[in-house]
Amino acid sequence: MDKFIIEGQARLEGKVVLSGAKNAALPILAGAILAEGTTTLHGAADLADIRAMCELMGDLGVETIRRDDGTINATVTDDSQSHARYERVRKMRGSICVLGPLLARRGYARVGMPGGCVIGSRPVDLHLRGLRALGAEIHLDGGDIVARAKKLTGATIFLGGPFGSTVLGTANVISAAVLAHGTTVIESAACEPEIEDLIDMLNAMGAKIQGGGTPRVSIEGVAKLTGVEHTIIPDRIEAGTFMMAAAITNGEVTIPNARVDHLLAVVDKLRDIGVQVEKSGPGLVVASAGRLSPVDVTTQPYPGFPTDLQAQLLALLCLADGNSAITEKIFPDRFMHVAELLRMGANIRKEGPTAIVTGVGQLIGAPVMASDLRASAGLVLAGLVATGQTEVRRVYHIDRGYEQIEQKLRQLGANITREKEEQGFRSQDSAVGSQE
Ligand code: EPU
Repeated sequence: MDKFIIEGQARLEGKVVLSGAKNAALPILAGAILAEGTTTLHGAADLADIRAMCELMGDLGVETIRRDDGTINATVTDDSQSHARYERVRKMRGSICVLGPLLARRGYARVGMPGGCVIGSRPVDLHLRGLRALGAEIHLDGGDIVARAKKLTGATIFLGGPFGSTVLGTANVISAAVLAHGTTVIESAACEPEIEDLIDMLNAMGAKIQGGGTPRVSIEGVAKLTGVEHTIIPDRIEAGTFMMAAAITNGEVTIPNARVDHLLAVVDKLRDIGVQVEKSGPGLVVASAGRLSPVDVTTQPYPGFPTDLQAQLLALLCLADGNSAITEKIFPDRFMHVAELLRMGANIRKEGPTAIVTGVGQLIGAPVMASDLRASAGLVLAGLVATGQTEVRRVYHIDRGYEQIEQKLRQLGANITREKEEQGFRSQDSAVGSQE
């Protein structure tokens, strides 16, 4: 296992280029199951989760060849393998997005049922409701979801749940409906840019999908889809993380390929905090001059403030001049980073799904433990501004979703290195927790 050693208080300055979005790449890779011929994806970041997805695709008879320039060629070579084993799904919940494509193309899918994880319970009832509405017969067997359909038929489906829509549930239902007989209308569809990106690729393959990026998506089924070339969108969560890294270090960072249109809620909140965010060519530049104002933030489905940036924002607000409140409306228990930030001198009180943060003058370097992908990013940001040395342990979490984060931070002037972790740090160390 690796750890990061950060010598804090270096000001970040310069330019950072975003990698392709992990959460777009995963359902898009699964979409290759639907196509005849080869699907070529550009901008597939070199991440543990994307490698895991490629391995799963291999299990499912889809050969993937990755080039160093971030291109992946995916070709179906054997359509008789439709079992996504629990061992894979357990390690990466995003694997659930093979369910819709397998069912649509092969008429049968067996996918390990994901359990809960460190960021909270992760039910898939909405995925199953949507696929059943299209005519799939679904039951559970030995911990696997077993889904069958001779032919799927279009239907009107409401995909809203207690916390709004579902991102991967929307991906699954769209990916199933593209080959269904007739028209499907999804109400309360997820509007995330990653879903729009999936829709763009499926449409290029020959699908007929309208309404991407809105809560009503309609899909007219087609007989077949053909492999295409597609470039994955830049990662908006990586963008937000570097924007906050600039802000927390009083730095100035240019992100030339940030999609400002995907980051409106983040830009708005950072400006409220007193951070300067300006458009710069097609991207943006973020600068901070010192004092940070406190804000109240609620995480919401897109276009609201993303839950995947909550931990990073919490780290930033530890340094604001007063009391802030962050309420988690997507994963109410996603606050594992709070206890670690307290070890660095933060002043945070949890009240149900809300963290009340009182700004402190300074965070103090400490050994801290990453619990999940985005929590790790929050701890790295805290380490960048803390006095002295911070060790962030269990950084395999961060490697799941950030491509070369320490190199990118170093290029901006951070003092961060990767080292091998000795065993025995705190009691939980040996247990590799379930993955988000
Ligand atoms: N939900 C249900 N029933 C369902 C599905 C979801 O009640 O059938 C609930 C969830 O429990 C949650 C809410 O709906 O409270 C939203 O969950 P969603 O299904 O949208 O999450 P997801 O699709 O499983 C994706 C991202 C997450 C990101 C969430 C929310 C991928 C691979 N994962 O998960 O990303 O936090 O959307 O935006 O796209 C990450 O990258 O670190 C990460 C966890």
